Amino acid sequence: MTVLDRSAVDLPLSAAMRVGSMAEHEAAEHSSYMSELLGGRVNETGYADYLLRLRVVYDAMETTVRARLDDPAVAAVHDTALERLAAIDSDLEHWAPGRDREVVSPAADAYRERLAAAGAWGGLLVAHHYTRYLGDLSGGQAIGRILDRTFELDGAGTAFYAFPEIPKPKPYKDAYRARLDALELSVEDVARVVDEVKVAFRLNQALFTELGQNIDGYRR
Ligand code: HEM
Repeated sequence: MTVLDRSAVDLPLSAAMRVGSMAEHEAAEHSSYMSELLGGRVNETGYADYLLRLRVVYDAMETTVRARLDDPAVAAVHDTALERLAAIDSDLEHWAPGRDREVVSPAADAYRERLAAAGAWGGLLVAHHYTRYLGDLSGGQAIGRILDRTFELDGAGTAFYAFPEIPKPKPYKDAYRARLDALELSVEDVARVVDEVKVAFRLNQALFTELGQNIDGYRR
């Protein structure tokens, strides 16, 4: 029998997602690849290898989301202003011009398969949508600024962190959370969404672990 952790799922959906994934978020923040990257110790190949994996993830997520706009939960969060595939492609031209977009990555493959499976129920897809895009609009903004400073980029190669149609992330994120909360999911469905948010964080962690295995090859 599944025992529901009511302390988390009794909250409005957006708060349940945040509270329920705090430990996973903390782990993602402290991954060695991220620390090395933000410390300026990862070279161009190392960052391109990250972008190539993100490309797999966003391609799968954005395709699956577009195919499930009939689901009210997916429709509530969908916004083309968030889409990142074109930005990733443009950044790859900076970091790895002309490089083949194919990447050998069991972690990205596993993430893509999970996203495809999440198309079965909108709540699962929303969990992935939230984990990536709200992350990009939160800590991701700081990451973009640090990268820019560390590599003295002057904006080049950081389109991934720029949301030209979302000038102020804070009110955007507040409105996004309000749309999640207005879905009024049952306690059981909130628990399913929160579980999938945790899965999404672990899939991101696995990307970092995979990249971390090659950290010596990425030294600059
Ligand atoms: C060095 C890495 C990271 C740092 C420094 C960081 C930092 C932060 C900070 C400061 C916030 C709160 C922003 C606010 O209050 O609006 C935040 C929120 C968030 N982060 Fe991260 N983060 C990192 C990595 C990640 C990763 C890898 C993911 C998932 C892929 C992620 C997903 C999220 C999400 C979903 C939120 C929104 C939480 C909510 O308000 O519901 N973060 N992050």
